Amino acid sequence: MTMRDQILGLPGQLRWAAGQAQPSVSAPAALLTGMGGSAMACDVASLTAVHHPVPVHRGYGLPPWAKDGLVVAVSYSGNTEETLSSVEAAMVRGLTVAVVASGGRLVDLAADNGWPHVAVPAGLQPRAALGYLAGGALRVIEGAGLIPSQVEELEEAATVVESLLTGGEAWKQAEAIADRLDGKVAVIYGGSGPSAVAARRWKTQINENAKRPAFWSELPELDHNEIMGWSQSGEKVRPYAVVLLRDPADHPRVRLRMELTRELIAPRITVAGEVRAFGNGLLARLFSLIVVGDALSLTLAERAGIDPVPVATIEELKLRLQEA
Ligand code: PA5
Repeated sequence: MTMRDQILGLPGQLRWAAGQAQPSVSAPAALLTGMGGSAMACDVASLTAVHHPVPVHRGYGLPPWAKDGLVVAVSYSGNTEETLSSVEAAMVRGLTVAVVASGGRLVDLAADNGWPHVAVPAGLQPRAALGYLAGGALRVIEGAGLIPSQVEELEEAATVVESLLTGGEAWKQAEAIADRLDGKVAVIYGGSGPSAVAARRWKTQINENAKRPAFWSELPELDHNEIMGWSQSGEKVRPYAVVLLRDPADHPRVRLRMELTRELIAPRITVAGEVRAFGNGLLARLFSLIVVGDALSLTLAERAGIDPVPVATIEELKLRLQEA
C-alpha cells in the first residue's frame, strides 16, 4: 500500500478503534510503553488521562516507581527490543500487562499468559497505523477505568480528519508549508498538550517519510531557552524554518506566547506556516494537526522523488542489534 493510501486510511482506523470492545482489566494505575511510531500512540492515549496520570515510558526496562498497576505495551510489530524488555521487567515485578500489537513476540506472550490483547490489523508501517495503535491503547486504559470513554471523541476525530483529507485542506496547507520550507530544516513548535504531541509527530513523519532532519519543541518551555537560538541572523539561522501548531484550547498565556514568540523570531528566521487545530474534542483537535503534518511529510517526499515507505536505516540498526 502506498504511503498516501496509508495516510488516507486514518479516519477508518479511528472509526475501527471506536468500534473495538474494551478489554476487561482492573488496575489502579497504568503506564504505557513503546518506541517510535508506537510510542506516538502512547502519547496520544496519555493525553486523555484526566483522572489519573498515565505516563509514557520510552526505553528499556521500567522506571523504578512502576511497582503496581497495568503496563500497556504498544508495538506494531510486537518485536521491539525495548518494549519486550519493559514487558519482561513487568513480569519480574508481577505487574499486569496488556498488549496492543499486530503480531510478533508480544502477541505470543499475551496468548501464553492470558493478557488482554488488542489485535491491530497488520501490513502497514508502524507510523501509518497511528489510529489503530492509539485507539487500541485508549480502549485498554478505558477498560481499566482510568479514562472516560473515548468513543465519541474517536468518531469526531475521524470526521474532522476525513473532511481535512477529502476536502483538500490538509493537502493545501501541506503544499503551502512545503513551498515556504524550500529545502530548510523544519523546526515544529507546539504548545503544551495536544499541539506538542502533534509537533513531535510532525518531526518524526518528516524524518521517516521525507528522510529529512526536523526538530520539535514546545511552549512555554522554549521561550526560556530555544528562542535565544534565533537571536542571531544570517548563515547561522538561514538553514531553518519554524512551523507553529496552534490549539485554541492551549492555555491563554501559551496562546499569547505563540503570538509574541512569532513576532520576535520572524525578523530573523523563516516562519513557514501556522496551522490551527479544528474540532471540539481533544482527539479531533490533535488529529486535525497531525494529518497536516502527515500530508506535509508525504508532499516533501514526493517533491524530492523519495519513496516515503521504507525506513532502511531503522531496519539495518535493528538487524545489527540482533546480531550483536
Ligand atoms: O516508524 C517506525 O518504523 C519506527 O518508529 C517503529 O515504530 C519503532 O521502531 C518501533 O517499532 P514497533 O512500532 O513495531 O514497536
